[in-house]
Amino acid sequence: MENRRYLSEYHPEPSSLIPLLQRTQERFGYLPREALEEIANYLRIPLSRVYGVATFYAQFRFEPLGKYIVKICHGTACHVNGAITIAQAITEELGIEEGQTTEDGLITLERVACLGCCSLAPVVMINDKVFGKLTPDKVRKLIKKLREEKLDV
Ligand code: FES
Repeated sequence: MENRRYLSEYHPEPSSLIPLLQRTQERFGYLPREALEEIANYLRIPLSRVYGVATFYAQFRFEPLGKYIVKICHGTACHVNGAITIAQAITEELGIEEGQTTEDGLITLERVACLGCCSLAPVVMINDKVFGKLTPDKVRKLIKKLREEKLDV
């Protein structure tokens, strides 16, 4: 795996583990198993320890991201304006939870804090596009269109 190319930029010691995990995720968008095996070999630590550290931090993911990333805002303004019902509508519509990707690899759901457009709360961001003043009904329609890849994002 191409991971090897940048392994040598790091000291082969356990303190390099987190920087290497971050670099690997930047490179692949997630942490593929082979890359984790290479890191374990390079740092001479057990693979179980690499997994132990990687699973401890919410920033790391173990599956590739979907083609569309739906970020559901749970910041304060969105929370008081119904972010929970928005999240429920989306997770019901897709049959996955926040942090997961649909089986077809199309859509990944992420839970985020403030997206910086609180006046539009409740808000979701799909790829780089913001959708605000949502209701459960509106967001269901949005997600249906997204599934059909008819949403301009
Ligand atoms: S709290 Fe959701 S955009 Fe700020």
